[in-house]
Amino acid sequence: MSQVLFDTPIYNPTLWVIAAIIFILAYNYLTKESWKNLPPGPPALPLIGSLPFLGWLDIREPLRKLARKYGDVFTIYLGPTRVVILNGYDAIWDAFVKHANVFSGRPNNYISKKLTKGHGILSSDGPFWREQRRYSLHILRDFGFGRPILEQRILEEIHFLMTELDKNIGKPFYPQPLLQMSVANVIMAILFGHRMDYEAPAFIEYMEIINRTFKVIGNNGIINIFPAVRFLPGDIFGLKQLEKDFDYMRSIYKQKISERKQGGKECKERSDFVTVYLEKIQEEKDVKDSSFTEEQLLGLCLDLFAAGTETTSATLTWAIIFLSLNQDVQDEISEEIDRLIGNKTLPSMHHRLNLPFTEACILEIQRLSDIIPLGAPHAVTEDVQFRGYFIPRGTVVLPNMYSVHMDPELWPEPEKFKPGRFLDKGKKVDKRELIPFSVGKRVCLGESLAKTELFLYLTSMMRRFRFRLAPGYPKPNMKGHPGVTNVPKRFHVVVEARSQT
Ligand code: HEM
Repeated sequence: MSQVLFDTPIYNPTLWVIAAIIFILAYNYLTKESWKNLPPGPPALPLIGSLPFLGWLDIREPLRKLARKYGDVFTIYLGPTRVVILNGYDAIWDAFVKHANVFSGRPNNYISKKLTKGHGILSSDGPFWREQRRYSLHILRDFGFGRPILEQRILEEIHFLMTELDKNIGKPFYPQPLLQMSVANVIMAILFGHRMDYEAPAFIEYMEIINRTFKVIGNNGIINIFPAVRFLPGDIFGLKQLEKDFDYMRSIYKQKISERKQGGKECKERSDFVTVYLEKIQEEKDVKDSSFTEEQLLGLCLDLFAAGTETTSATLTWAIIFLSLNQDVQDEISEEIDRLIGNKTLPSMHHRLNLPFTEACILEIQRLSDIIPLGAPHAVTEDVQFRGYFIPRGTVVLPNMYSVHMDPELWPEPEKFKPGRFLDKGKKVDKRELIPFSVGKRVCLGESLAKTELFLYLTSMMRRFRFRLAPGYPKPNMKGHPGVTNVPKRFHVVVEARSQT
């Protein structure tokens, strides 16, 4: 019987393969939109698109070369997905600020829609995103974004970090995990009103899971390009583990949210994000299709942790690398801090104005670390004519931040750490082309928190310690791990206690 079936053309596998190839080629041809004047770009092959023209893991340099050939706005295909790349400050500003209404969507891909179940802020868009972003910012401002109460919370956490650094004095160590836990604790305190002990097994396990999640997402553009790979047997791309990890993180937040629901002294003081958001859910319980739900609150917790932990801690880790490699810069920061703050008072945001060199160093650290080299993907929400090209609705748009932060015309010798770029006659100067937080309506929601953290962590560390490269260990690699976030590769430093004035 089965032999008869295989002899029938419709059950002949070879014919199916040929039909599939013809279908893909015809589909590619019919959907080819060059006649609609898409931005130019390298050739796209069936199924794999422009992948052969993009190098293997690190696509920063290949994109720069493509920009030289095709201009500041060009198209590539990641598998079958059309992606428009924006190069240089002007193109990014033009799209995200001047055409913000069209360029502020998010792509409809596996990670953004399936994994997050459409909740949170990072991956949502439209009126739902607007409402949730506005309300989240409103709560966060109430908790002191840009005000002294937030400083207090951060300084409390820094105190624990300092104690840990003290324990490591004189020993070669890799500072990233410690910085990451500390920064995660700041978000934890904002969301749930408490911190966790660095040694607590639950916290260590939780951080391991966050790191694994980032690694899988960072290494696996493949999930978004070919979502079907998740149906392959086994788990070569780590996607099944990724789904499990997301469920695990959700279960942790669920438990923490339910603890907040049961109330307690801090809940009455309404001093954490979750408690205030839960009240809003109650207020809206009779509103039809309200966007304020517990599922959405879970999504927000995931987003704030994901967006706020790795970015800030990776920037601080790069800071330690750049400063260890530039002892003269450390001398100058310490001298400025000693002169103004000394060892009697704690650093505070009001010291910023009087620490121009330290401030210039932070800006240069942000430029050179280029923490999110390809930004977060946007999508156009309707067909748009942009700089003489046609971009169809739904097209993914990537801002090439690397092309801005490493542009030799803006920053001579861009690969060198030179804080003097941000100083003029001893005064700090901001430069509009430094855009680590992106620009436009999607600009980083945590910008003010991140800036406060970078300043307070750096000044606190420089006030008490000096960092040096650990003797006998290789020099830090300046490229970082390719991925969504530019996290430094493992390195070792030695921390020394400073004798202060
Ligand atoms: C140095 C630290 C940080 C850097 C460099 C950074 C950078 C960015 C960038 C480039 C984006 C994408 C913007 C776009 O789509 O164009 C973003 C989005 C976002 N960031 Fe940050 N971020 C940092 C810290 C934080 C912190 C501490 C938080 C936590 C409160 C946070 C929360 C978010 C959220 C929620 C979004 C999504 C905004 C939206 O889609 O509307 N970030 N960030």
